[in-house]
Amino acid sequence: HTPRTITVLGETYPTDDYTNLPPTIAALLERRLHVTPPHPLNTIRKLIASHFEGFKSYDNLPAVVTPELNFDSLGFPPDHPGRARGQSYYINRGVMLRTHTSAHEVDIYRETPRSGGWLCTADVYRRDEIDRSHYPAFHQTEGARLVNVADMDKLKAENEELRRGLSASRIIMEDCPDFDAITNPLQASHLPETVLPVAQNLRLRITTLFMSIFPPSTTPLHVRWTPDLFPWTSPSYQLEVRYRDGWLELLGCGIVLDDTIARSSHDPASERSWAFGMGLERIAMPLFGVPDIRLFWSRDERFWKQFRDGELRTFQEFSKYPPSERDVAFWLPVGVAKPHAASHAAGGEGVGWEENDLWDIIREVGGDLVEDVKLIDDFWHEAKGRRSLAVRITFRSMERSLERPEVNEVTDAIKAKLTERLAVEIR
Ligand code: PHE
Repeated sequence: HTPRTITVLGETYPTDDYTNLPPTIAALLERRLHVTPPHPLNTIRKLIASHFEGFKSYDNLPAVVTPELNFDSLGFPPDHPGRARGQSYYINRGVMLRTHTSAHEVDIYRETPRSGGWLCTADVYRRDEIDRSHYPAFHQTEGARLVNVADMDKLKAENEELRRGLSASRIIMEDCPDFDAITNPLQASHLPETVLPVAQNLRLRITTLFMSIFPPSTTPLHVRWTPDLFPWTSPSYQLEVRYRDGWLELLGCGIVLDDTIARSSHDPASERSWAFGMGLERIAMPLFGVPDIRLFWSRDERFWKQFRDGELRTFQEFSKYPPSERDVAFWLPVGVAKPHAASHAAGGEGVGWEENDLWDIIREVGGDLVEDVKLIDDFWHEAKGRRSLAVRITFRSMERSLERPEVNEVTDAIKAKLTERLAVEIR
């Protein structure tokens, strides 16, 4: 069922046994929301850029990259789950859609002068379920700054200044230990005195960024730093911001590994760098009051006409047409292992069953009419030795009321496609 070639952004590629990019996802690459005013993601991009004076911006790098750039250049191990076909979109074995803006780090560092800084904003793609807060395409801004180890005194003075700007009435910051020798170590070649000021500069620059973009009405802003883990940074941190009743995970960051610095022809002995990657929808949803991540992809003028370039405005929900639900239950092919026996971490490769294929096919056939897909049943039939799943699909149009026959027709088409592509047996 895979065509011999596929065309993405005007370029034609041969397909192979790795190809898993559906046309519905390929179509999103043309949207360029983050550089299209008055889209809120474009406004967020510009707000962030205005906070990092002197940093060079890269906003137009194409999403088609090699796995070498997306993973190897950053030291991802060969068996990292992110590489699996179940997690990422491949055009073929040699080309994929970037899963993060970090895919461009090595190339951008290579053209960044010593002590330079840069930002890169782009659309990124990860196979995922679809609901109000998850979509397989989203946007990130990556930022990085190189520091000469000879400039630590200057950096410490800058940090002091930034710290003075953090008024207690506007921000509550829960900091985390600078490093932990076991779970979040400094790199073996790094002395604390040439790393800790850089790590502190990273956290201060980001904290002041959020203080400047979240409006006074949301302050005091409560932020929390926790240790994290990325293959190309150490120590690494994560930032969460308190919003309504929960914590929003906004970004990952850290001190870039010497290996990655060396790969980009900088000198790890005399240069340190911090880098961060933040999710723009995560920031835009609370800032613009957008309740559903899919609205960012809307072509409806009732969405677009509510925004003005560069302004924070609160989105007013427009009326929705009624939803219809359909349940689809099916047996997985004979031979698919019991759920707990299947290796999820390895993306289930070789088992012949990939849960993300299910979401993609439903999307592919149902298109924008599919508002939500939920797994409502998953059981193992001991006598048959087969696994059964059931999903509830919610259909809703943004433009009109759906008629019952139309919903039935789409549901039948989904069942037919699932049978053909995944060899399931509809119950
Ligand atoms: N690329 C990481 C992510 O998508 C974030 C990150 C960027 C972490 C830069 C460290 C340094 O989660």
